Amino acid sequence: MMNIMTTSEIDLRSREFRANPYPAYTLLRQHTPIVFRDELGMWVVSRHRDVATILRDRRFGRSIDHILTREQRGVPPKPQHRRAFDMLSENSMFDKEPPDHTRLRGLVQKAFTPRRIESLRAFVQRVADDLLDQVETAGTMDILADFAVPLPVTVIAELLGVPDSAHDSLRNWSQSIVAMFELEPTAEQERVAIQAAAEFADYLREAAAYRRQHPQDDLISALVEAEEAGERLTEDELIATCVLLLNAGHEATVNLVGNGLYALFRNPEQLRLLQENPSLNTSAVEEMLRYDTPLQLFRRFALEDVQFGGVIFRQGDEIALLFGSANRDPESFTDPDTLNIARADNPHISFSLGVHYCLGAPLARMELQIAFATLIRRFPKLALAREPQYRDSVVIRGLHSLEVVF
Ligand code: HEM
Repeated sequence: MMNIMTTSEIDLRSREFRANPYPAYTLLRQHTPIVFRDELGMWVVSRHRDVATILRDRRFGRSIDHILTREQRGVPPKPQHRRAFDMLSENSMFDKEPPDHTRLRGLVQKAFTPRRIESLRAFVQRVADDLLDQVETAGTMDILADFAVPLPVTVIAELLGVPDSAHDSLRNWSQSIVAMFELEPTAEQERVAIQAAAEFADYLREAAAYRRQHPQDDLISALVEAEEAGERLTEDELIATCVLLLNAGHEATVNLVGNGLYALFRNPEQLRLLQENPSLNTSAVEEMLRYDTPLQLFRRFALEDVQFGGVIFRQGDEIALLFGSANRDPESFTDPDTLNIARADNPHISFSLGVHYCLGAPLARMELQIAFATLIRRFPKLALAREPQYRDSVVIRGLHSLEVVF
C-alpha cells in the first residue's frame, strides 16, 4: 500500500504509483481533480464526471494534426526512423478525428454489430472449452498464457482471417507496439516497436495481396473489397486498420481476464457468490471492467482554447484522462473500492465514451462472459497458486502471469 499523504508527494512516473495507482487517484480526485502535472507535461483529469464530459466534447480530440501542424505547435517533426510505426497510427481510426475517423470506422462497424458478434458465440465457446480441455488433467495452469491470451487472439484472428501459424507473431508484434502507449517508452522499446510495426505491416500487405487474387470469407477480404470499390480506403489505411483490430481486439481482453480473476481471488466471498449464482456473470464482468480496468489512461488534445472546471486548456494542450480513477469515483459509484459483482448501477467508462467508444465492446463482453462462465463452471475448485505480480506499466495494467490450481 502506498504511503502518501498529499498530491505533491505523488509522482505519476514512480514505480510505487505503477504498482498500485488507486490511493494516488483518491488524493488526486479529492484535492486536484484537474491539474497540470509537471512530471508529465500534461493536464491530468481524475473525476468521473469530468472524464466523461471531455470524452463526449468535440472540442477535444485524440489527434490535433488535422488542425495544427507540428511546426505550428512547436513540436519537432516526426523522426524518419520511426516511419513504420507512425504509418500505423497516422492511418488508423484510433488516432483520427472526423471526417476521416467516421469513414474508417464506418467501414468496419458492420463486422462488429451485436448481431454479427452473436453469430460468433458458438465459436468462442468452443475455443474456451478446447483451451480448458488441454490443461484439465494437469490440475494447474497459468490463466494468462493458457487461456486469457489464446482465447481473444484466436477469435480476432479468425475474424480477420489470420491463420493459427501466425498467432504467436501476432501476439509478439502487438505487445511490442502497445508498449509505445506507455508514458515514457525507452529507446529499446521504441526500436522493438518500429521493427514489429514494419514486420506486421509486411505480413498484412502480403495477406491483402493474396486476397486480391483469392477472396476469402474474412474481414481482410472485406476491407480489400472496400479498397478496390473506390477511394474510400487507401492501402496504408487498410493495413493500419487490420493492425488496430488485431491489437485492440485482444490486448485489453487478455488483461481484463487476469485482473478480474485476481480481484475475485482477493475477494473470496465474491468468488463464492459467483460460483453459487451463475446468473450474476454479466454484472460480474461489468464490475471487473470497472474495478481494475486494463486501460488506465487515455489522452486527448484541446482542439481550441476551452474553459473547463475552473481552468483554461489552451489549444494543443495534452490532457491525460484517468479511466481507472473515474471508475473509482465515489460521486458516481457507491463504495467504489469494494468489488461488488451484483452492482446494479455501474456507469463505468472502461470502453470510453463519444466517437472513439470501443468498437469491439460487444465482442469483448461476449468473450469475457464466456471466459468467466466457462472457468467458473468447469473448475469449481479454482484457487490462486501463488501471488501474481503486476507488470511495470501505467497505461496498460495487467499481470505477468496468474498461476492457479483447480
Ligand atoms: C476488455 C476489453 C476492451 C476494453 C477495456 C477496450 C477499451 C477501449 C477503449 C477505452 C477505447 C477508446 C479509447 C479512447 O477513447 O481514446 C477502445 C477503442 C477501440 N477498441 Fe476496444 N476495448 C476492448 C476490447 C476490444 C476488442 C475485443 C476489440 C475488437 C476489435 C476492440 C477494438 C477497438 C477499436 C477498433 C477501437 C478504436 C475505436 C475508435 O477509435 O473509434 N476493443 N477500446
